[in-house]
Amino acid sequence: MAANLVLVGAGKMGGALLAGLVSSGRCRPEEVVAVEPSVARRDELLALHPGIRVLASLEAGLLEAEGGAILAVKPEQAEPVAGLLAAVGIDRVLSLVAGISTARLEAKLAPGARVIRSMPNTASMVGAGAAAISAGAAAHAEDLAWAEGILSSVGTVVRVPERQLDAVTAVSGSGPAYLFLVAEAMVEGAVCQGLPRDLALELVSQTLLGAGRLLTETGQSPEQLRAAVTSPAGTTAAGLRILELKGARSAFIEAIQTAAERSRQLGHQ
Ligand SMILES: NC(=O)c1ccc[n+]([C@@H]2O[C@H](COP(=O)([O-])OP(=O)(O)OC[C@H]3O[C@@H](n4cnc5c(N)ncnc54)[C@H](OP(=O)(O)O)[C@@H]3O)[C@@H](O)[C@H]2O)c1
Repeated sequence: MAANLVLVGAGKMGGALLAGLVSSGRCRPEEVVAVEPSVARRDELLALHPGIRVLASLEAGLLEAEGGAILAVKPEQAEPVAGLLAAVGIDRVLSLVAGISTARLEAKLAPGARVIRSMPNTASMVGAGAAAISAGAAAHAEDLAWAEGILSSVGTVVRVPERQLDAVTAVSGSGPAYLFLVAEAMVEGAVCQGLPRDLALELVSQTLLGAGRLLTETGQSPEQLRAAVTSPAGTTAAGLRILELKGARSAFIEAIQTAAERSRQLGHQ
């Protein structure tokens, strides 16, 4: 039976999106075909999502007319796999691949193929993803809506011109890793002050979650929220002074600049 969605590459990002789609109810496992070369990963997917169909490689006739494929392989595999999608007649593709333009994918897909390029992040796994999407040359409003429907079931989606996707990659694609580094550093700081590591991790995790919710739910800017917890000559002011002195702000600005440059570089390889 033809599926509604073909997931090509169910590694970290593809697997996270699949988990989010299933847990949000957007897709039933029976509606999805996952194409994965690794036997171990295929077995894992069958255990995680009973009812899903798994295949080692693409084959013709997998997709129903209204469906599409999600391309979630590594950048170096994206163009050869786009060629395989063309060979099996799949002409609507949501690409999660960093750095590979819609034009490069279109050149490998069938003429007129509809490509939506996106940059999601792994928080999709818990329904709190942040993704940006851009349409390729032949994609219509309904194709963008299709892609938005998939990604919005696992988080926030914004539409951007394709040239901005390198910046998006550097901010929200890589962003969870920056915040995990912040979390690691805060836990070390807590341990240095005598708190047990597991308790420190619990406090830091909840603090990050709480700060994120304050940002998304109060409508206040980061500056306003920071000022609200910074009493004159208080403890937070003392801590923030050290972060500014050590260049935390410019370290983030430069990290994002370097990550965006790396994304542009990957796109030209
Ligand atoms: N991880 C992130 O946070 C993140 C965020 C945004 C975007 N992305 C993008 O998502 C894509 C996947 O990244 P990832 O981190 O999920 O990598 P990954 O864990 O290595 O996943 C890629 C998967 O594709 C499989 N694969 C390889 N060749 C294939 C083929 N011909 N047909 C079907 N599947 C094939 C791989 O199997 P084998 O391991 O057996 O080769 C692997 O399971 C990348 O293009 C990346 O730029 C990732």
